[in-house]
Amino acid sequence: MFFNSLSGRFLLLTIVFVMLAEVFIFVPSVARFRVDYLQKRLELAQLASLALLATPDDMITQELADELLENAEVLNIVLRRNEMRELILTKPLSASISTTFDLRDASAFTLIRDALAGFAPAGDKIVRVIGRPVKGAGLEIETTLYLEPLRYAMIEYGRNIFFLSLFISVFSSAMLFFAVRRLLVRPIRRLVGNMTRYQDNPEDATRVIKPDSKVIELRAAQDALLDLQTQLTAHLKQKERLAQLGEAVAKINHDLRNVLTTTQLLTDRIEMVEDPVVARIAPKLMKSLDRAIALCETTLSFGKAEEPAPEIKQFPLAELIHEVIEGEGLRLKNGEITFGMEIDDGMIVAADREQMFRVIGNLVGNARQAILVSGQGGDITIKAKATDAGTEILICDTGPGIPERAQEKLFQPFQGSVRKGGTGLGLAIAAEIVRGHGGSLTLAETSMLGTSFRIFLPDQSKSE
Ligand SMILES: Nc1ncnc2c1ncn2[C@@H]1O[C@H](COP(=O)(O)OP(=O)(O)OP(=O)(O)O)[C@@H](O)[C@H]1O
Ligand SMILES: [Mg+2]
Repeated sequence: MFFNSLSGRFLLLTIVFVMLAEVFIFVPSVARFRVDYLQKRLELAQLASLALLATPDDMITQELADELLENAEVLNIVLRRNEMRELILTKPLSASISTTFDLRDASAFTLIRDALAGFAPAGDKIVRVIGRPVKGAGLEIETTLYLEPLRYAMIEYGRNIFFLSLFISVFSSAMLFFAVRRLLVRPIRRLVGNMTRYQDNPEDATRVIKPDSKVIELRAAQDALLDLQTQLTAHLKQKERLAQLGEAVAKINHDLRNVLTTTQLLTDRIEMVEDPVVARIAPKLMKSLDRAIALCETTLSFGKAEEPAPEIKQFPLAELIHEVIEGEGLRLKNGEITFGMEIDDGMIVAADREQMFRVIGNLVGNARQAILVSGQGGDITIKAKATDAGTEILICDTGPGIPERAQEKLFQPFQGSVRKGGTGLGLAIAAEIVRGHGGSLTLAETSMLGTSFRIFLPDQSKSE
């Protein structure tokens, strides 16, 4: 749509504004036109009355009087030269005088009002006009005339003004139209063109805009865009480099894990050597190797960037928790931790069983490690309840609480760990898996008396 474009809008608005301005000019100017018209009649009337002065006793024939009146386009004339003398040229009127226009001291308001009223059809109305004679030729001149010719003259004048205004407005809006196209539309198109070209390949630094406008506002827009594009291109390049680095790390990790696994097998043999020094060092070596392999594996799984989409199936929650507790229990040498469960046997949840096993395993594992570090034993209790919105699972322990340093970046990969040998990936991965289910993993509370984490899984049937 042409009128929805910037230049179209300008064209339309200029026509409207110029026409509006012309209305304000038209009203006083038509009043001026009417006064001039009437004044002209008075002057002609004054001229006609001069003929009367030329006669010795101010007397002329009726034919001459009629001719003089006709020339002046008036019906009769009264010229008051001084207090005593009056000159009169007259002929009988076809109708009575309907109104009087006194031009001597008329206010601007009266003149405008009478001019606007003058557009109304006048029929054969006759008016009296009073004014001052020119060149001080008398005190007052008065004449009567038909109103209709004045109305025609005003309409003619109005029409001329209208066409002139139309011409001016079309002409000026056309000029403005081209000015707007040159100054605004074209630069904006060029700016948008640059954005689109840049968008196609933001890493290509040659596509970054080169500010060249001399118009202050456009130059500011170009400069801002230049800033934005330069930063974005730099960020993209950095991101690409990081991705390449990540890939390299993943490859190194993979091969390193294989090397370590082989070393682990060899260490198994060393353990059989009966040398007391070897017997003392071998378990420590084994432990270090275990940790190194675990680090490689978790980093690798994190390097996959995202967990696969969960395969949601319904299963009894209590069974899964039993499995987790059983696995964790095997890692304990003495019975320093008691496991508890507050879950209805019949409770069913809809989630990816394998992924949930990892989430709960991670949380219970953290609790176990924390309690073991404290060296005082403790309890780990897993509770679950169904709420209106979904399922809530709480993993509570009576451990020493999460150290303040760890709390700040708890769910951020590689950041949250303060544990010796910990990688700081467990909670980040667990949180990502729960988010993948549309739920959330939060720290419910932590203090010297213990810690609890809350898993919330939304009701899958409601979220569909
Ligand atoms: N139940 C808990 N009680 C006390 N501290 C905890 C508990 N859970 C987590 N933490 C603290 O939060 C840190 C981050 O835990 P996270 O599982 O992310 O990493 P990690 O256990 O150190 O390493 P990873 O699990 O990757 O082997 C832990 O190092 C530990 O200090
Ligand atoms: Mg952990």
